[in-house]
Amino acid sequence: MKETRRTFLESTLATAALASMGSAAAQSRANVTIGIIGAGIRGLELMGVALEAGAKVAMVCDLYDGHFRRAQELQKNTPTTRDFHEVLARPDIQAVLVATSDHWHAPVAVAAMRAGKDVYCEKPMAHTIPQALEMAAVSRETGRLVQVGSQSVSMTSTHKAKEWFDSGAIGTVFMAQCSIYRPNAIGAWRYPVPPDASPETIDWERYLGNAPKRPFDAARFFQFRNWWDYGTGIAGDEYVHLLSRVHYVLGVQYPLSAVAYGGIYKWKGDRDVPDIHNTLYDYGKFQAQVSANLVSNWEGGEIVRFMGDRGTIELTEEGAKLIPYNPVEDYEYPLESWPKDTKDKFMAKHKNDPEADIGTARKQPQRKVETFSQDHEGTLEHMRNLFECMQTRQQPVENVSFGCGTAVACHMANISYREQKRVFWDADSAKLST
Ligand SMILES: NC(=O)c1ccc[n+]([C@@H]2O[C@H](COP(=O)([O-])OP(=O)(O)OC[C@H]3O[C@@H](n4cnc5c(N)ncnc54)[C@H](O)[C@@H]3O)[C@@H](O)[C@H]2O)c1
Repeated sequence: MKETRRTFLESTLATAALASMGSAAAQSRANVTIGIIGAGIRGLELMGVALEAGAKVAMVCDLYDGHFRRAQELQKNTPTTRDFHEVLARPDIQAVLVATSDHWHAPVAVAAMRAGKDVYCEKPMAHTIPQALEMAAVSRETGRLVQVGSQSVSMTSTHKAKEWFDSGAIGTVFMAQCSIYRPNAIGAWRYPVPPDASPETIDWERYLGNAPKRPFDAARFFQFRNWWDYGTGIAGDEYVHLLSRVHYVLGVQYPLSAVAYGGIYKWKGDRDVPDIHNTLYDYGKFQAQVSANLVSNWEGGEIVRFMGDRGTIELTEEGAKLIPYNPVEDYEYPLESWPKDTKDKFMAKHKNDPEADIGTARKQPQRKVETFSQDHEGTLEHMRNLFECMQTRQQPVENVSFGCGTAVACHMANISYREQKRVFWDADSAKLST
């Protein structure tokens, strides 16, 4: 079975165990010492990847005690803390991996950069647009690196798509089409609450941070994606993966405008974020349509299509396909309404024009469908890219400017949905308007 984001966890944790035993998987060792801040589902995955890459994991910070025990299962005797400042105070820690709920990404990342650490920050980079802009400014000011964690830009299939696009294989792209459909409870983020969840095992006050105060609620902790106070909805969770591929392949940073429709159609009562969220973006040179929901199914998982005037590139989690457009239409159809002599004269004049004469079109070389298969997911390469950049001080592939672009795009979709308006982004002044 090919590896996708969904099948990634098991293989990562298995490889982490091998890596910590000094197997061949750990041969190319990164000479870096890191801390993990936010060691839930993704943070523990990242811990496994970091160990596989050969990094030293010096401290783990989280707000639920069960995650500490799980971290110890991955690496015995790892120091743990509930206070991320303790991680930042460690002089041996050069970088932190931030995988908290979204509302803590920017505050932690900014504090980390100010403490002299480089940052791997999960997507979306920030909970709000002002926070994303602040992160970009602090990265510039401190010279600290940020790698945003939508690893799709480090997937070999995304690189293949860029190679095809740059070679002109699909011509000019006027339309990108992205989709993701996840109809079941896990897809809708109804993650199970561990039986020992309580105010004793969870640091609820610290978790709330700047979010509105409310009494302990384990669902709001383990299902944070369902609430605007801590998460960023389908756009923050899923659009960023899709749009990262669009921005990377087409070489754009921001959309110009967005208009979104959505609502809570199925998963009523346990969330305030929509379970259907569809958005149309205008990028000036092309449009991107994102169709995403947590209520219906369609084979194929996550799909990004680049639709050009000479063909289409289709990206999935498993690979890439180049579907060339071979012209099959000619002027025959509209000419049917002309009198014979007018039509014959026209056809004689255009007989070597492939768009006018189907016989000529058929003589053109027919381009074949090409496929590219990807055998693993991109998180290891993505993290290695940051570790290499930490040595060279080059900007990583999904640096803070890139991450700012996809964060702004996802928040535009959320603001448009919530305010029921088309929203515009002016990149020069970094201002949003409706
Ligand atoms: N790139 C990917 O493929 C991918 C996959 C899954 C999740 N993610 C991202 O990772 C992040 C976490 O998602 P998850 O599924 O692991 O959620 P999760 O709820 O399992 O884990 C989040 C953890 O953050 C911790 N936390 C929250 N505030 C904290 C703070 N102030 N200090 C220390 N720890 C804090 C919580 O204790 C919790 O364990 C999200 O932003 C999500 O979008 C990315």
